[in-house]
Amino acid sequence: MAPKHKSVETRFMEARDEALRALRGLDRRSFLKVAAASAGAVLARGLLPPHAFQLVNVAYADPAQPGWSFAYISDTHLYEKKLNERFVRAVLKAVDDVNALSPQPDFVLFGGDLAQLGKPEELAMGRDILKEVKAPVKMMVGEHDWFLDLGEHWKSMFGPVNYSFDHKGVHVVVLMSVVERDFWTARKMTPLERMQTVAGLDNGTQSRFEVGEEGRAWLKGDLAKVAHTTPLLVFSHSPLYKYYRDWNFWTEDADEVQAILKPYAHVTVVHGHTHQLLSNRIGNIHFHGMLSTAWPWPYAPTGLPPLTVMMNRADPFDQFDGTGDGRVVMHADGVADKIYNLWDRNPVTVRASFLASNGARDKPMATKLVTY
Ligand SMILES: [Fe+2]
Ligand SMILES: [Fe+2]
Repeated sequence: MAPKHKSVETRFMEARDEALRALRGLDRRSFLKVAAASAGAVLARGLLPPHAFQLVNVAYADPAQPGWSFAYISDTHLYEKKLNERFVRAVLKAVDDVNALSPQPDFVLFGGDLAQLGKPEELAMGRDILKEVKAPVKMMVGEHDWFLDLGEHWKSMFGPVNYSFDHKGVHVVVLMSVVERDFWTARKMTPLERMQTVAGLDNGTQSRFEVGEEGRAWLKGDLAKVAHTTPLLVFSHSPLYKYYRDWNFWTEDADEVQAILKPYAHVTVVHGHTHQLLSNRIGNIHFHGMLSTAWPWPYAPTGLPPLTVMMNRADPFDQFDGTGDGRVVMHADGVADKIYNLWDRNPVTVRASFLASNGARDKPMATKLVTY
């Protein structure tokens, strides 16, 4: 006889099984069913559904400041389904979030680390889920997508790693920043060993990330035709500055890349990889980190940029605490406000005026939850 009462845990496991069953034959029609099953699992655990994203949108519909916005989803770190379904659930939640935005963002930037170990099946699952995003999706590569086959599968699915386009007066650049010098050949590593070494950010065996000579030459060539008064929006996976070397929160040739960007009046760099609220300003360049959907990284013990509004340590028992997605609002004068849509916390907005004034104006409200 079936029990009358089902525990929270039982309901969670049932919803999980349903989500995984539906994922097996994921296509456009079954997506809604999967997303609904995923939301059911979240509710069964007593967690809050996504909140505040729509409210933020209304708050920014300011007719005095015409502009446009894009949303982002980043660092999904998808494993094969049989190994980990939690991260699958998280990216489905992010897709639901951005599809619910009204008005819709002009595009959605995917910030890299789609896969966990660069496996074709991990990348394909990510690609299939991102197909359900209503707005156009722009892809960026992360180290977790790259080092199994040095980008072979990623490029066959998503195209070139460096590219640019013009959008409403802004020149947008997607720049591959996770090139590494060859540390694997001399050590006779297999492709999987190479991938796992890079994935272990703090093991000290791998090289540091860099844009590299080829990438820098591409960037110089791309910008040669762009006037210095044109606002630049640059996407990179690693931060294009030197934050914390031991964890590869770092781009080795950041100084040279910043020098290429220096002649431009307004430059906004939005990066993935660090999985945390992170804000920095170096001269004319405003930097913003993206949240991960998979997990929040702790802050590095040294080198945290002083303009960062820190989030307290996330609840380790809440999958969604400290994770999320977000938006960037590009204003007509070429500067950008960054909105962190934290899933189980209030959103945090870091305005361009806060960075431009070196923290004197418009200080963002910090998250209020206690440190766990
Ligand atoms: Fe990541
Ligand atoms: Fe990364």
